[in-house]
Amino acid sequence: MACVSEATPLSLPASAGMKPRCRADGAKSGNGGSRVLIIGATGYIGRFVAEASVMSGKPTFILLRHGPAACPAKAQTVRALEDAGATIVHGSMQDRELMERILAELKIDVVISTVAGAGSILDQLHLIDAIRAVGTVKRFVPSEFGHDIDKAEPVEPALAMYKEKRMVRRAAEGLEIPCTYICCNSIAAWPYHDNTHPSEVPPPLDRFLIYGDGNIKAYFVAGTDIGKMTVKAVDDERTLNMTLHFRPVSNFLTLNEMASLWEKKIKRTLSRATMTEDDLLNLAKENRIPESIVAALTHDIFIKGCQFGFSIDGPHDVEVGQLYPDEPLRSISDCFDDYLQEIVPEIVGPMEIVAAEPQNSLSVPLTCIS
Ligand SMILES: NC(=O)c1ccc[n+]([C@@H]2O[C@H](COP(=O)([O-])OP(=O)(O)OC[C@H]3O[C@@H](n4cnc5c(N)ncnc54)[C@H](OP(=O)(O)O)[C@@H]3O)[C@@H](O)[C@H]2O)c1
Repeated sequence: MACVSEATPLSLPASAGMKPRCRADGAKSGNGGSRVLIIGATGYIGRFVAEASVMSGKPTFILLRHGPAACPAKAQTVRALEDAGATIVHGSMQDRELMERILAELKIDVVISTVAGAGSILDQLHLIDAIRAVGTVKRFVPSEFGHDIDKAEPVEPALAMYKEKRMVRRAAEGLEIPCTYICCNSIAAWPYHDNTHPSEVPPPLDRFLIYGDGNIKAYFVAGTDIGKMTVKAVDDERTLNMTLHFRPVSNFLTLNEMASLWEKKIKRTLSRATMTEDDLLNLAKENRIPESIVAALTHDIFIKGCQFGFSIDGPHDVEVGQLYPDEPLRSISDCFDDYLQEIVPEIVGPMEIVAAEPQNSLSVPLTCIS
C-alpha cells in the first residue's frame, strides 16, 4: 500500500540521515497501535518481522545502516516495505545519541532487533543504553530468533554467539528494560547444515543428507509465522519479560519424516547419505563463520535434540500455541507446497500440486548471498 501522506516533521538534524516518507502514524492501515522500530529489516528474519509489522497496521519504522542498500535484493526489500507504509530511518545502532533521538522523537514504543553478523549482537548494548536513557520504550525484542540461549549449550563457534546473546539479555535485564525473547526454533525448510537461510533453497531433489540417524525431532516454523507472532507478542502483556517458545506439535518432525514428506510431494524417492556427529563436529571445528556456526547448531538440533530437552513450564516461559490457540501456524506440508509452486515445477516438470492457502504477504525478495 502506498504511503498516505507527506513527511512527518522531525526535529532531527539533516546529518542524522532521517528520511521519513510516510506519516509516522499512518503505516499501512493507520489503525494505530504500538510504534515499532525494526533494526535488521533487510535481513532474513527481519524481513518477516518488518512485513508482519506493516501488515498489522502498526506504524513501522525501519533503521537502515547506510544510504542505499548494498545489494539489489535488499534495495528491493526496502522499497517493498516502504511502499507498504514503513518509514525508513537512516542511522547506526552504534550511535547511541542518534538512537536516543530516534526513539524519543519518533515516540517508539517497541524496538525489535533482528541483527546478525560480526559485532552486531554486541552492538545491541549501545541500543539498550539508548532505550534505558529514553525510558519510554515499552518492549525490546533482542536479536535471538532461534533456541533458548540460556538453556542450550551448543559447541563452538555457536556457543560464542550464544554467549554474546546472553550478554545482551543480562544487560537488558540489569537495566530493567521490558523484554520479550523469541525462541522460534528451526525455520520451516530443509535444514541445510551449511546454510544460514535454508528456506531460500528448496529441499533436495537429488539426495538427502541425514544428520545422525535422522530420528531426532525438531520444531519447524514458517518465517511468516515468526514475523506475525513476534509482532503480536510485543503488544501482549502476557509476554512481558517472558520467553516466547514456538513448539507447534504438528510441525515437530524428524529429518526422516521431513524427507518422506518431501518425497511424497515430489513423487520421487531420493537417495540418502549420512552425515555423522563427527562430520558435523569437524565442520564446526573449522571455525569458518558463519558455516561452522550453522554446523554447530545442526549438531545441537539433530544430534543432541536441543529443542525439546527442557521444559517450558517456568515462570518466564510462554508457548505461542497456548497464547494464541486461534491462530494456527502454517504446516510443514504447506511450506513444502510453496517450493513446489514457486521453485520446483520448472525443475521437476508439471505435477499435480495441492494448492496451499494463499499467503497474505508482501512480495519481498530473497536476501543477498554474500
Ligand atoms: N531460527 C532460525 O532458523 C534462524 C535462521 C537465521 C537467523 N536466525 C537468527 O535471527 C537473527 C537474525 O539473523 P539473520 O540471518 O536474519 O540476519 P541477516 O540476514 O544477516 O541480516 C542481518 C540484518 O541486520 C542488519 N545489521 C547487522 N548489523 C547491524 C548494525 N550494527 N546496525 C544495524 N543493522 C545491522 C543488517 O543490515 P545490512 O543490510 O546493513 O547489512 C541486516 O538487515 C540472528 O539472531 C540469528 O541468529 C535464526
